[in-house]
Amino acid sequence: MPDRFDLPAGFRWGAATAAYQIEGAVEEDGRGPSVWDVFAARPGAVRDGHTGAVACDHYHRYLEDIALMRGLGLDGYRFSVSWPRVVPTGAGTVNPAGLAFYDRLVDALLEAGITPLPTLFHWDLPQGLEDGGGWLDRDTAYRFAEYAAVVADRLGDRVPAWITLNEPFVHTVFGYALGTHAPGRTLMFEALPAAHHQLLAHSLAASLLHERGLEVMLSNNLTPVWPASDSAEDVAAAEAYDALHNRLFTDPVLVGRYPDLSALGVPDDLYGAVHPGDVDLIHSPGLDGLGLNYYNPTRVAAPVGPGLPFTLVDIPDAPRTAFGWPVVPDALRQLLHHLRDVYGAALPPITITENGCSVAEDTSPDQPRIEFLATHLDVLAEAVAEGIDVRGYYTWSLLDNYEWAEGYHQRFGLVHVDFETQVRTPKASYAWYRDLIESHQNDHLR
Ligand code: FCB
Repeated sequence: MPDRFDLPAGFRWGAATAAYQIEGAVEEDGRGPSVWDVFAARPGAVRDGHTGAVACDHYHRYLEDIALMRGLGLDGYRFSVSWPRVVPTGAGTVNPAGLAFYDRLVDALLEAGITPLPTLFHWDLPQGLEDGGGWLDRDTAYRFAEYAAVVADRLGDRVPAWITLNEPFVHTVFGYALGTHAPGRTLMFEALPAAHHQLLAHSLAASLLHERGLEVMLSNNLTPVWPASDSAEDVAAAEAYDALHNRLFTDPVLVGRYPDLSALGVPDDLYGAVHPGDVDLIHSPGLDGLGLNYYNPTRVAAPVGPGLPFTLVDIPDAPRTAFGWPVVPDALRQLLHHLRDVYGAALPPITITENGCSVAEDTSPDQPRIEFLATHLDVLAEAVAEGIDVRGYYTWSLLDNYEWAEGYHQRFGLVHVDFETQVRTPKASYAWYRDLIESHQNDHLR
């Protein structure tokens, strides 16, 4: 397995987490409830009824976690700001104690030589906003922009680059279409106004961040879409899926139009959500970087019956993570080339803002994770050598954490967390990543 990759000087090495997955302290210091607190309490919603009430207790242990990051030699740390910690009901009153937590976190990161990369929304919407319709309500976009400005005004003197949203596709589809994530709505395609309002929120916040001289990225979960065969039916189904999963979230931002969703039976105005001028608004702030969360490709066949215009099918012969996700590193290279081919000069520099895998707890010495990271970094380095502008790599995740509907069952961390005692134990992948970062830095000192 290669343990050094030919990546340019200045390439940023990082790790990523998200607030609800690690912080805990859900009722402390004035934090308001989020949709995830409410959803996780619903019987049957999350495996074994797990909740994020304690998670990794990072709210209290952030200094210990920063020491682990320093031990890795990270250049950057991607975390998310909990909206209900800062604005408990989602609108109006700001909670000074919530803001103060992120202030301390940022200062401690900078002291450790680590650049903070905050995400303003990683799925933990204040329940107060959900009660008024959540992302189905256009007003939520405006509330997000207000909240973004509050956080930027507090931290923008020390934090140069920001991610507005994490994976609006996953939040819309799992949260509003299928109901497997918070807020647990099952609207199928009628969930799509939630996608539009998130993109609107992104753009309103992006303009405010730009006015403050800050850089803006948006992190999307993108997947290479593979038709199951060359048949016209499978190819059409793959195109329909690509429009829904990928292009719906990148086309308006990068080229100022929505893809054609007619094959899905979705009206152009996304059920009345798209008002005149909205798409220009979404496009106009531009993006300083595209955050790419990559996990796996998706294989798509023609529908088997009435209902959805596509069927998701297995990828034969691909190894699987503990989560059951197929492992196909080369698809990351394909995806990067595809993005460049489709968007050309409109494609901003890319940062991999998530990539990693779940490995079963008793797997020692964590070899599958090392292999996963090494094989993905290998193709990433190839793509960079082929001229694709990728600026950094943030592995998911620093710590084992609360994996949404799977509770504590999927372990994505470089560091093992015992959820009974909160003891952190670096895994073999931690040492491997530390050595890799060090050798990259040494290579570029010479
Ligand atoms: C992504 C999420 C992240 C984590 C990983 C495994 O979709 O952004 O929070 O759950 O998957």
